[in-house]
Amino acid sequence: MSVGHGYGKTILFGEHFVVYGLPAVASALGVKTTAVVEDSPKFEFNDNRPETPGYKAKKRDEIQRQVDALKEYFRLDEKKPVKITLSGDLVCASGVGASAALAASIARALSAHLNLNLSDEEINDAAYIAEEAGSGTPSGIDNTCAVYGGFIVFKKNLAGGKNDITPIKVSKPIEIVMASSGITQTTKEVVADVKRLKEENPEQYKKIFNDYQRIVEAGIKAIKSGDLKALGNLMDENQKLLAEMTLSCPEIEKIITAAKNAGAYGAKLTGTGRGGSVIALTPGKSLQDKVSNAIEKAGFKTFKTKIGV
Ligand code: MEV
Repeated sequence: MSVGHGYGKTILFGEHFVVYGLPAVASALGVKTTAVVEDSPKFEFNDNRPETPGYKAKKRDEIQRQVDALKEYFRLDEKKPVKITLSGDLVCASGVGASAALAASIARALSAHLNLNLSDEEINDAAYIAEEAGSGTPSGIDNTCAVYGGFIVFKKNLAGGKNDITPIKVSKPIEIVMASSGITQTTKEVVADVKRLKEENPEQYKKIFNDYQRIVEAGIKAIKSGDLKALGNLMDENQKLLAEMTLSCPEIEKIITAAKNAGAYGAKLTGTGRGGSVIALTPGKSLQDKVSNAIEKAGFKTFKTKIGV
């Protein structure tokens, strides 16, 4: 029996922009998906991950394509059959990198089970292939967080070579609250829709992308200098751009209002958008508790964690 893990992730800056080669800032979450692989008389896949209601049903085909891609990558049909069982404390939802965590955990467990000793880079390649099969043309930021963990600046290499991955160090871990809108989105469709909107409105999107470039550069500086008030304001500015790109929705706005009213330094959607998850920046345990309670009171599920651990 072999075990593999894949971390969930949150994006502080740059969902969607990252697809076009702009830098994004993301952190692995302290929660993960665990894959167990064991010999079995026939191939079996059991998905026992906790979920936002409806997530696994909506993602059924996507999950199947990911598993098939991993079976092919590891040539499972030519080998002894295995049973793959998923579990873990990452509650599957849009916006937390659940599909990448699935891919990374299975790739790690299969590498161990088949005695392949794959490097992290090779595991990341396998996870990316599964992500591509599941959701089209991902930037690679989710699987990179799922495999390596940590807090990073990620820049996709649009020419197809190695992506630029730079770890960020913070002087002390920062408390955040993650909240779920309860809405599961299909990343592939939303990414395609943003592409269409960008092509149809070139001037508007040129300005949005220029504004984003300024925001992310200032955001990275704020993280490095520990200026968390500035960091929160810049996350709010990023959210305004995402809303202009039609990526927000009433549930996200409700969560953000509850978080900000309770004192969050900044709050924005994280991941695909049009549902999914929100990240609120809440330095210190008491602010984290206060913001989490306020969001729960507004009717949404939350979990508390830290970035830069
Ligand atoms: C999804 O977590 C982030 C997106 O930017 C898609 C991607 O980067 O592949 C929306």
